[in-house]
Amino acid sequence: MKIKAESTKPSNKKTPILCAFVLENSKEPLGLGKIHEKINSSVKESIKETKGKVGEISIIQTLGITPANKILIAGLGPKNKLSTDVLRNVTGKIAQKVRSLGLSEFSIVIPIGFPIDSDSSISAVVEGTMLSLYSFDKFKKEKSEKSPDLSILVSNSQNAQKVISQAQIVAEGTLFARNTANLPPNECSPSTLASIAKSLSSKNKLKCKIFSKNELKQKKFGGISAVGQGSKNEPKLIILEHNKGRRDDKPVVIVGKAVTFDTGGISLKPGDKMDEMKFDKCGGCTVLGIMKAVSELKLPINVVGIIPSVENMPGGESYRPGDIIRLYSGKTAEILNTDAEGRLILADALSYGIKQYSPKSIIDFATLTGACIVALGNNVAGLVSNNQELAEKIKNSSEKTSEELWQLPINDDYMDMIKSNVADMKNVGMGRAAGTITAAAFLANAVDNAPWAHIDIAGTAWTQEATKKKSYNPKGATGFGVRLILDYLRTL
Ligand code: BES
Ligand code: MG
Ligand code: ZN
Repeated sequence: MKIKAESTKPSNKKTPILCAFVLENSKEPLGLGKIHEKINSSVKESIKETKGKVGEISIIQTLGITPANKILIAGLGPKNKLSTDVLRNVTGKIAQKVRSLGLSEFSIVIPIGFPIDSDSSISAVVEGTMLSLYSFDKFKKEKSEKSPDLSILVSNSQNAQKVISQAQIVAEGTLFARNTANLPPNECSPSTLASIAKSLSSKNKLKCKIFSKNELKQKKFGGISAVGQGSKNEPKLIILEHNKGRRDDKPVVIVGKAVTFDTGGISLKPGDKMDEMKFDKCGGCTVLGIMKAVSELKLPINVVGIIPSVENMPGGESYRPGDIIRLYSGKTAEILNTDAEGRLILADALSYGIKQYSPKSIIDFATLTGACIVALGNNVAGLVSNNQELAEKIKNSSEKTSEELWQLPINDDYMDMIKSNVADMKNVGMGRAAGTITAAAFLANAVDNAPWAHIDIAGTAWTQEATKKKSYNPKGATGFGVRLILDYLRTL
């Protein structure tokens, strides 16, 4: 799919379909201008019918009267509810419509005076298009229809081209995360993830280190080793470095949980929907997507990605409920449920990240707790942090990208809930109470005072079906967090 900016006047644009937006209860589309008397009046007629309601699309045939073969008008909803996310969503609907019509190209008008600033509008249009046309068809003979090319009609096409390229890199990072996360568990073990990271690192000139099972044991990564020991697919710790900042500039470290399949282990999960636990690697895939984009954007900062990867399986060599293990931090953990594996591998990765890099901030992504879905549903991720300044920055990026977050509290009461009689901590809290926070409390023990933010993406990492408000998240992995953290990193 090619995306380019043009300063052609809409009335002169030769295209299979010319697309413009209309606000709710407005009489005219934004920026279409005078095309032809007859066409303009039939555009007005169709707007009367759809009333510009959000996501409503109407198509007008021009019968050779204008250079454009068809005109598409898409409702943006009311002006007071308009946001970049509405534009991203509506653009996604346009792109899907154009693809279903089998057209090879479409043009979208973003006029001067559009109610959202030009750069944000262009980015939202690029993201809406690329993300909504995604489908995972690697294992299908019948591939989805080819994605149409896009021309964005703007007043200043020179600046727009640069904005387009950057938005493309961000969207491609998200798609890379999705493509990796959607891989089935028989085709994606921890060593597969390690090879994916290796080839990304050589393509994008990132530094890459992989720790094998033996190295993990020898370096005392007790959490990763314990969870990984039950599978014949051996555990890996994957590290990617982007060193484009000053030498003495402390890096931002991004950690992501990558359990390539979570059966629960000896504390086996019920069979229903267990297949979805192939998505338990989504945190790690988000980190891969971020590292890809960070290097392609050539951000002048230091960023490290750390991905602890295991398969959580029951078997003769599995770790068990009752085991006491020693984490990388030196602290011991009593295992009371082998299905609470994410916190064990993350704790090791977080402690290592802090010891090795003394980061200015450390952020982790994990499909960590079912409790997070109970609390926040499938559109909002949980945020827990020991540093309010960092939390506010991430929330700010969340507002800009519409990758939504809600902050949950953490304090000594929650820390007390994971105290064990026989070890420094236990890997579960007190029954079902505050499950997302007690999991975070376990991680807080691994980070001490380093500025840390934990993002629980159990509910947002994949969808069963695209929702009405997010056409750009089709079924499957969403790549949640890539756009969010890239925005945060770009503000540094
Ligand atoms: N990967 C799961 C969490 C999960 C469940 C994410 C469903 C998305 C959808 C995690 O490893 C897990 O099993 N957590 C347990 C923790 C509990 C045993 C304390 C959970 O949430 O039930
Ligand atoms: Mg589990
Ligand atoms: Zn898990």
